[in-house]
Amino acid sequence: MKKRSTAELPLAGILPLTAAVNDEGHLAIGGCDTLELAREFGTPLYVFDEETLRHKCREFRSEFRRRHADSGVSYAAKAYLGRALAALLAEEEMDLEVVSGGELAIARSVDFPPQRVYFHGNNKSEEELREALDYGIGHVVVDNPYELELLNQVATSMGKRQPILLRLSPNVDPHTHRHTTTGVLDSKFGFPIVTGQAEAAIKQALSLPAVELVGLHFHLGSPIPHMEPYQEAVQVVIDFAAQMAERHGFRLSELSPGGGFAIQYLEDIPAPAPAEYAAAIASALVGACRAHSLPLPRLVIEPGRAIGGQACVALYKVGARKEIPGVRTYVAVDGGMGDNIRPALYSARYSALVANKVGEEERERVAIAGKFCESGDVLVRDADLPRLEAGDILAMAAAGAYCLPMGSNYNAFLRPAIVMVRDGAARLIRRRETYEDLMRCEVWPSP
Ligand code: LLP
Repeated sequence: MKKRSTAELPLAGILPLTAAVNDEGHLAIGGCDTLELAREFGTPLYVFDEETLRHKCREFRSEFRRRHADSGVSYAAKAYLGRALAALLAEEEMDLEVVSGGELAIARSVDFPPQRVYFHGNNKSEEELREALDYGIGHVVVDNPYELELLNQVATSMGKRQPILLRLSPNVDPHTHRHTTTGVLDSKFGFPIVTGQAEAAIKQALSLPAVELVGLHFHLGSPIPHMEPYQEAVQVVIDFAAQMAERHGFRLSELSPGGGFAIQYLEDIPAPAPAEYAAAIASALVGACRAHSLPLPRLVIEPGRAIGGQACVALYKVGARKEIPGVRTYVAVDGGMGDNIRPALYSARYSALVANKVGEEERERVAIAGKFCESGDVLVRDADLPRLEAGDILAMAAAGAYCLPMGSNYNAFLRPAIVMVRDGAARLIRRRETYEDLMRCEVWPSP
């Protein structure tokens, strides 16, 4: 399919890298006409662009490696994980950060190399820890004293010695939405440094026979568009590591400053490039280690949103329209908070365009409403778009992170299908749910 220049397309830097306007004047992704995709696979449809996904993996890997040779990029599965994506990440030599037995099971189902998996979470169960160790997981990121003891018991009973990182709470505020701020003192995650609990954890970990303490982790929040919180927290944690080296003989072999790298959702709010994060984090690490004469640890970052966010566009079909004179016009689409709860939960803002009216100049201001039975189910409150009519296809950009995995079957609506596009071909990677799927776990009448 011939592509026109992407320059004609709005939302550069927000849409996938292969987004273009095709000869029919439609939005195309990965060489596929989005209207044809909507017709063939139905809507709502989540369209992942393989080229953007691979590009982001490579960009993060090379930008960090260029500045710190011993570094790795661990994709945060919580942003979205399916089997096709897990297989792609394995091919791209990414590491993987999971937070549940379920995410672990998806990784395992595609034979994701276990050594490259990190297991996070603030309340891992004994069963999940067993599953992880049975799989041969590379690292468990231990969050609290209870888990440290539990892991030691599990590893002992399995005859293993498990490499771990300790998750610290460095008490640095990244000023994100309060629901997504984690690195402050008043947080459920990690061992606080200032209270002395982190030091106690180091001592405990060094004394336990079935765990091998290899490093430290922190995650400040998400998304963080500034460099200062990362730099400040790296300094705090390296100062702490130096003290622990002196007092307890702790050797920091690996440091993870987590994820949280911002992406662009709106035309007037650009996001920093991966290179900026790499430069800021690597220089803070090198500077702090040099000041304490500590050897440089391996650096592992954990981007989720910044790998998959831009790679995906959600396609919806336009339906009902409600005009309230002098107040607002609502235009409803066939999805909403069941496939993207972020606007309702965090007041997250998105950019949209009309896939079959890309070139139209005239605009009207409307609210894009979902079809769920809740007033808060509004995907975009103030969208300036060509006049929307029933049957139009609305494309929501930057839908690749935290939409599908936070989805639900609220109102017993079906979860959408997902396709992966590349070079003009579309692969269905998750089929749309059916009514049978909805009732699969129901037990009635009881046996
Ligand atoms: N590492 C850890 C330990 C995390 O907790 C998270 C995200 C990440 C890495 C990846 O963060 P990212 O690079 O994707 O920003 N549901 C919220 C985001 C919650 C993030 C939770 N932790 C949202 O939709 O914005």
